[in-house]
Amino acid sequence: MILMNDIVREGHPALREVAQEVQFPLTAEEKQLGRDMLTFLKNSQDEEIAEKYGLRGGVGIAAPQLAVTKRIIAVHVHDEKDKLYSYVLYNPKIKSYSVQQACLAGGEGCLSVDRDVPGYVVRSERITVEAFDEDGNPVKLKLREYPAIVVQHEIDHLNGIMFYDHINENNPSYLPPDVDLLG
Ligand code: NI
Repeated sequence: MILMNDIVREGHPALREVAQEVQFPLTAEEKQLGRDMLTFLKNSQDEEIAEKYGLRGGVGIAAPQLAVTKRIIAVHVHDEKDKLYSYVLYNPKIKSYSVQQACLAGGEGCLSVDRDVPGYVVRSERITVEAFDEDGNPVKLKLREYPAIVVQHEIDHLNGIMFYDHINENNPSYLPPDVDLLG
């Protein structure tokens, strides 16, 4: 199982690379990695397991965070209506972005960043994502608000982008007009 020590932290080169697409059929290792990533997220949200293994809670993880520079992400996140979005996505691609922007009122965090980085991370409020499941079947997701933010954060990891790259350097608490504050 994936533990905190398996997750690389900022400064590791894998976090700044553009990850490679996977080819189908996947290798057994690629399938297992996706499953392990999703299990990690579930474990990290389970109070007892998280405490036992010292896991920091997470709602998303990307393969480069495990030093594997392939286009694989997992998310396990509930929206404000408690609907669960639980997926392993291979070669995810954002096909459309809303003009409307949104950001988390409390800023973002990352399993690869062991410090608080305050500031608004402005993203699209709604996205359409196309990806593949582990069997190579196409998956199309329409996401809004929190799950959309999480998926944008994870896909950023596949492009070597950290959440704080989006924060206004001179004024981290600057919020452009018409941005929805979430949470
Ligand atoms: Ni992250």
